[in-house]
Amino acid sequence: MRGRFITFEGGEGGGKSTQIRLLAEALRTAGLEVTATREPGGAPGAEDIRALLVQGDVGRWDAITEALLHSAARRDHLVRTVWPALERGDWVVCDRYADSTLAYQGFGHGLATESLETLYRVVAGNFVPDLTIILDLPAEAGLSRAGGRGGGEDRYERMGLEFHRRLRDGFLAIAARHPHRCAVIDATGSIEAVQARVWAAVKDRLGLTA
Ligand code: TMP
Repeated sequence: MRGRFITFEGGEGGGKSTQIRLLAEALRTAGLEVTATREPGGAPGAEDIRALLVQGDVGRWDAITEALLHSAARRDHLVRTVWPALERGDWVVCDRYADSTLAYQGFGHGLATESLETLYRVVAGNFVPDLTIILDLPAEAGLSRAGGRGGGEDRYERMGLEFHRRLRDGFLAIAARHPHRCAVIDATGSIEAVQARVWAAVKDRLGLTA
C-alpha cells in the first residue's frame, strides 16, 4: 500500500524540525516505516540547489529565478526520494513543500498564485500532500526564536518583518483555500503542547488508531 505524504509549513522559528522529529518517532512507535525529509533539499542534487537558495545576499535572485530554483530542487526531491519512499509504503514527513513557494515567492515576493500553480503542475502533476500541518505563530515571535540558528542558512530570515508578516497571512489564506488538506496548529506554548496538537490532527485527519 502506498504510504502517506505529510508536509509541515509555516514561517521561521515555528519549531518545525523538532515537531517533525517527534511525529516521526510517534509514527514509528505506531509501527509505520517513516522517511523524514526536507525542502529545499532531501536528495543530493536538491541539497546542492538548497545551498544556492539559503545562503548569500538577500537579493541574489529575482523572484522568478528563485521560484524556478525551488521548483528544480522539488522535482529532484520527488523523483529521487519522496515518490520511491511512498512506493515502498513509507510515511513521508517533509519539512516544507509547495505551500512554501506560494507563501514565500507568492505572498512574500509578489509572484502570482496562478503562475506558481502552473509551475507546480509541471513539477509534480496532480500529486499533493495527504496532510499539511501549518505551524502558526506571530512573525515577531518566530523570527526571535529562529535568530540563533547557525550555519549561515539565514538568507530568508534577513528579509525583514513585513515580508514575514505577509508569509503568515499567506499560509493562513492557503489553509482557508484547502481546508481538507491543511490543519492550522497553534505553535505557541511548550514543545509538548504543540506535539499533542500535531498528533491529534494527524490521527484525526489520517484515521490513525494508534
Ligand atoms: P528552512 O529554513 O525551513 O530549512 O527552509 C529554507 C528556507 O527556504 C526558508 O526560509 C523558506 C524558504 N523556502 C522558500 O522560499 N520557498 C520554498 O519553496 C521552500 C521549500 C522554502
